[in-house]
Amino acid sequence: MRTFHVRTFGCQMNKHDSERIAGLLSAQGMRPAEDPRDADVIVFNTCCVREHADERLHGQVSALKSLKAGGRPGVLIAVGGCVGQRDGERLLGRLPHVDVVFGTHNVARLPALLASAAEARGPVVEVLDAPDPGGFTSDLPDAREHVWHAWVPITVGCDNFCSYCIVPHVRGRERSRPLPEIVAQVERLAADGVREITLLGQNVNSYGRDLYGDPAFARVLREVAATGVPRVRFTTSHPKDLSEETVEAMVETPQVCRHLHLPVQSGSDRILAAMNRRYTRRDYLALVERLYDAMPDLALSTDVIVGFPGETEPDFADTLRVVDTARYDQAFTFIYSPREGTPAARLEGRVPREVAQERFDRLVEAVGTSALAKNVPYVGTVQEVLVEGSSKRDASMLVGRTGTNKVVHAPIEGHGAEELAGTFLDVEVQEAQTWFLLGRVRARREPASGVARA
Ligand code: SAH
Ligand code: SF4
Ligand code: F3S
Repeated sequence: MRTFHVRTFGCQMNKHDSERIAGLLSAQGMRPAEDPRDADVIVFNTCCVREHADERLHGQVSALKSLKAGGRPGVLIAVGGCVGQRDGERLLGRLPHVDVVFGTHNVARLPALLASAAEARGPVVEVLDAPDPGGFTSDLPDAREHVWHAWVPITVGCDNFCSYCIVPHVRGRERSRPLPEIVAQVERLAADGVREITLLGQNVNSYGRDLYGDPAFARVLREVAATGVPRVRFTTSHPKDLSEETVEAMVETPQVCRHLHLPVQSGSDRILAAMNRRYTRRDYLALVERLYDAMPDLALSTDVIVGFPGETEPDFADTLRVVDTARYDQAFTFIYSPREGTPAARLEGRVPREVAQERFDRLVEAVGTSALAKNVPYVGTVQEVLVEGSSKRDASMLVGRTGTNKVVHAPIEGHGAEELAGTFLDVEVQEAQTWFLLGRVRARREPASGVARA
């Protein structure tokens, strides 16, 4: 039987696309291979949001050259995703041993493209400017990484054009998926044993603007929760579009996890304007205050970029102040990386690498302090934890997450971790670290907010 291996870079949208790629290839009678060197088809699902991801792809694809040269000429290498979309044919100039180049809009065509490449004995490139208007590709078969978790895209693309960001250029304009389609998929998933779904979009808060009747994101939350799926997460929320209605839907819908990813990017109004984020520090902090008022137990995470062109020490000090005030549980921190074709790449005032690195280090420290402060009050509480499996470092410990997205470790005691994966446990938290909690299993249970209600 022929085998495939999918290597994924980038965001959750790409992880989900990779599950669909795996589903499509499995439907062709192929089987997944753990090691790319054992596979007949190797697919790279790529990201170009920062330079680093771009470079890693180059290294990894080049490393496979010897595989084809040495005894396995029939191996097919396909590169898709955001680099495929951006570079198309040009990619073959840099990586001539690639057989198939595809983009973000034609994942469904991959099996056909692989077949043409095998037949043509030469590279095949297909990149579309826009998605096929007929179909939301999420209806393709998928092979989920975990049986108990599913990604559910509700929008694709992005209309925001933040000045540093390549995503709108490689994912196209924002399109919303019809609500009945989303609900029907979640019903199927819940019936299939999925315990947690993550609704996906570059900006889920602008959901529905292109649909008849403008169904708002708050309605998606309520209707999806009504299917009875025990846990609902969503990402990403653009602060300028997070409505009061959405806050109310979060408060009133117990299945919706008390965790919000709310990228701030910078705390300086000058830099926020240059980034085209369309909110001020005051707007952002007022929203955060409203969220904590409505949900005192809310966990908040964010994305921050340091070293944006023109960023001064006072601008960065503003960012640090926001980190303090917003009391983040987690932050994804990035050094600005110029992306060709985006407006910010043409801006003056590049911040020297050492200065950006030094700010980055201070930011990471501030985030750690904030994260630990948010974890300490968990000690002594009992948390509902959805088990993911056993710890990679210590097989006698299980790993799971609270609704607030805290990683929890606890000794397994009795059951195998694989058997427990996808079940809910009550865990008493005994110790708080910066990035995880340690505890003891108290009981196994169905979630109070879960399927039992439906
Ligand atoms: N749609 C999401 C995710 C976008 S990409 C959102 O709006 O939040 C994920 C993160 O990568 C962004 O939030 C941003 O912090 C970071 N990022 C994007 N472009 C970048 C660039 N050119 N340099 C550094 N970080 C970048
Ligand atoms: Fe990029 Fe901004 Fe769109 Fe997020 S909202 S994908 S950062 S353009
Ligand atoms: Fe990267 Fe594309 Fe996602 S550029 S962050 S994989 S949309």
